[in-house]
Amino acid sequence: MKVPESLSLAFGSEFERLISDFIHQEKLLPEDQSLSSNRFLSRAVVPHIHKLSQLFNREEKNQASSLPAYWKDSSNPQNLRLTYFLYFMPCNLFRMASIWAELSRLGFRWQPKTLHGIEFGSGPASGLCGIAAGEKFASVNAPASAQWALIEQDQAILDLGAKWAQTYTQNLGTLDWGLRTFHRKIDLKRGFLPKTAPVFNLWIMSYYLNELEISPQELAPLLIDAWNDHLEQEGLVILMEPALRLQSRKLLELRKAILEEQKRRQKNDLTILLPCLGHQNCGALESPDDWCHEEVTWWRPPYIKKLDSLAQLDRKSLPFSYLVIAKTKRSREEILPALNRAPESQRHRLVSPAHSEGRDLEFFTCGQDGKKRARLRTDQPIQRGDILLGSALRGDRNASRVEGSPTIIE
Ligand SMILES: C[S@@+](CC[C@H](N)C(=O)[O-])C[C@H]1O[C@@H](n2cnc3c(N)ncnc32)[C@H](O)[C@@H]1O
Repeated sequence: MKVPESLSLAFGSEFERLISDFIHQEKLLPEDQSLSSNRFLSRAVVPHIHKLSQLFNREEKNQASSLPAYWKDSSNPQNLRLTYFLYFMPCNLFRMASIWAELSRLGFRWQPKTLHGIEFGSGPASGLCGIAAGEKFASVNAPASAQWALIEQDQAILDLGAKWAQTYTQNLGTLDWGLRTFHRKIDLKRGFLPKTAPVFNLWIMSYYLNELEISPQELAPLLIDAWNDHLEQEGLVILMEPALRLQSRKLLELRKAILEEQKRRQKNDLTILLPCLGHQNCGALESPDDWCHEEVTWWRPPYIKKLDSLAQLDRKSLPFSYLVIAKTKRSREEILPALNRAPESQRHRLVSPAHSEGRDLEFFTCGQDGKKRARLRTDQPIQRGDILLGSALRGDRNASRVEGSPTIIE
């Protein structure tokens, strides 16, 4: 997925200064330490990066039950929080901003008069801040003033997130965003929100769903019930999850379950907008070992580059899986006018990188006709996430050719 340059450049030294001042102010970093101290980062941060990465990358069958209450169980909760905040939060912020930028590049424009957002499992408010960055650098004309609710089971990270969200959105300069925090553990036996909760028009969950002990088939009706009661018409849902096979497949299964449940209820007010360009059967689910993810690259904050090198990791490109769902009666083409240039059968998204095969580029595409290995002759560099419009595919799923000269939305 290609993001605007201004967004990919927005996390340099100035961002680092902001985050460094913030953690000093919040006394997360001892006064005599700084983000440029290799010794401090190696001792206090890197071990927690490894611990959290291991936890988040777990491959067990039952994801949630193998997940300890990591905020509480750590031997050094303060440094664990600091580590998540310094290393994982900016990555999720950037991922979320990239999804907003994808909406923007396809011509999505905010319809409601207000912005009333809610972030579930908000941690340090990575999702909210990602929407703020998205709106600043790839606007969809959302209102400058907004109200948010953050829901999180851990008080300390919730408080930190609320303060950071205020600091970050004020620093962006154009936004007047207020928020309320709700310290609670969501118990799905009682649904996502109490009946008396208000209605929202932006509902985000970032790296949260995979922490719930529930199957996609059980989750879909609960989400649809919640969106019936608490999502406004023309409201948006953004679900973002890790790019790992198991977690990504759960999101694809959730998409399938939402579409089936909606059909069972004989309703059609939910449209899956992205990344799929239609309601076709998921191409990746056809094979048990396949999954679907996006990838974005950014100019990392300098201290993250340093942490990467100390931890022998690489967060230069950030993979993730996602779904954007709209509650709407409008057509996909009305909502994403950039797609209008071609009929649905001639829209394909690249779901893999492209490599050269002789004079062709070869890649996997996904469209109404499922997932296919395809070749295209073009001089234009193309990458995962690009969309081909006016692309007629000839051939079978293992060897297709894109005919004609499709327009490429990069
Ligand atoms: C991996 S973190 C993601 C945090 C943030 N959304 C982000 O993208 O960086 C998942 C968060 O969900 C919270 N969480 C998990 N289950 C929850 C529940 N049942 N109720 C409330 N919060 C929950 C965890 O405490 C944690 O802060």
